Amino acid sequence: MNYLLNPGGALRGEARVPGDKSISHRAVMLGAIADGITRVAGFLEGEDALATVAAFRKMGVEIEGPQDGELVIHGVGLHGLTPPDGELNMGNSGTAMRLLAGVLAGQPFYEFEAQRSGEAQHSGDAASVRGAASLSGDASLSRRPMNRIIHPLRAMGAKIDSGAGGKPPLRIQSSAVPLKGMHHDLPIASAQVKSCLLLAGLYAGGNTRITEPAPTRDHTERMLRSFGYPLIRYGLDVFISGRFVYELPGARLSATALQVPGDISSAAFFLVGASIAPDSDVILRGVGINPTRTGAIDILRGMGADIEITNAVQAGAEPVADIRVRHAPLQGIEIAAADIPRAIDEFPALFIAAACAEGRTVLRGAAELRVKESDRIAAMAEGLATLGAETEVLEDGIIINGFGGRGAFKGGTVDSRHDHRIAMAFAIAALRADAPITIAGAETVATSFPGFAELAAELGLGIREAK
Ligand code: S3P
Repeated sequence: MNYLLNPGGALRGEARVPGDKSISHRAVMLGAIADGITRVAGFLEGEDALATVAAFRKMGVEIEGPQDGELVIHGVGLHGLTPPDGELNMGNSGTAMRLLAGVLAGQPFYEFEAQRSGEAQHSGDAASVRGAASLSGDASLSRRPMNRIIHPLRAMGAKIDSGAGGKPPLRIQSSAVPLKGMHHDLPIASAQVKSCLLLAGLYAGGNTRITEPAPTRDHTERMLRSFGYPLIRYGLDVFISGRFVYELPGARLSATALQVPGDISSAAFFLVGASIAPDSDVILRGVGINPTRTGAIDILRGMGADIEITNAVQAGAEPVADIRVRHAPLQGIEIAAADIPRAIDEFPALFIAAACAEGRTVLRGAAELRVKESDRIAAMAEGLATLGAETEVLEDGIIINGFGGRGAFKGGTVDSRHDHRIAMAFAIAALRADAPITIAGAETVATSFPGFAELAAELGLGIREAK
């Protein structure tokens, strides 16, 4: 599917973006291993989060919905999952694969296999016979690095194998011997790795301590506390204690009600779109403003954007607010290292803002962008060049020479490389183009932002979908 975009226009009006992807995945995972019934409102009904729901259904968890963003999860407790029959396909989602690997590493499926090995022996289903679970994904996920979780999980005692070069599929063998807690000093700032190890830490003897090089999104920590699980945060360290204390009160997850905020990573496309398009004025309601996620707001404000945050409230463990953004002239910026993990998914959109800004924007120390759903530095540089923007590609970042107030993108066809955020970023760029833009391979937008084209069109973007 392609997007066809008319050039120019403005964004005006009010909107609600879909539920946060990171929080939606975590809600399913923690709800599934909690005791009791967890109700989730505002769940993202995107392909990725639905793949996580399907994976837990395959492990014996009853999940009702989603219907109008509501899920009802009948939790089976920390030790109640059953071994899946066949592979668990996590679609496009690195978050789902890495976090689930942490949960699976601690499962005592071995005991189930001892019970049912007689009947399973002749089934020909190798995964279930050996008490293993396999995680696979689409073409993009199959290229993403997994050694960042494989090595520390093995150090905790997990038996985990991968495809060549530490790439998916992953095969996690259950073991009768429990994991052991340990100290992990993370070499890269990654909420997925941190969360994977926290989840494995639930099943490990002793303490698991994780030290981050810089703060990353803390949804797992906040949500574990919502489920009543104790956890200590001290500076850049997080501590969790696992199964040897599970007889103690508090050392289990108790079902709860969760409200998923609007995804700031989806809102970011409209924050940039309204900033770059003259006469724009948009209010986005109910967006998550967790301080580990608001790097894009800080960067855009540093560029001169007119962004106002109102009606801030606490929705359970997560802060939520309305965000108003109006057109303003932007200047280039040197992006601060500490803002990078806080804006990691928003760089495709921010690069569009940088191209429309006056002067140079410099991003360094962001090599992680090369191992997202696509190589986002290469994909954005290629698309920006197609649309006539000036860039210099660095190993770990990019320099963008913005065309400023009077300039515009030229038209052309951009390859999204089947990356949802690349497709949406270039769709928004059309607001400041002087000729039509086509975006090839936009179907992956459904992974994080179902209904993007309709909502963007309502706000004033000249967008159409074409086969
Ligand atoms: C995520 C963490 C980030 C982010 C991803 C979602 C999460 O990945 O890019 O989209 O939900 O924990 P890394 O941990 O690889 O930085």
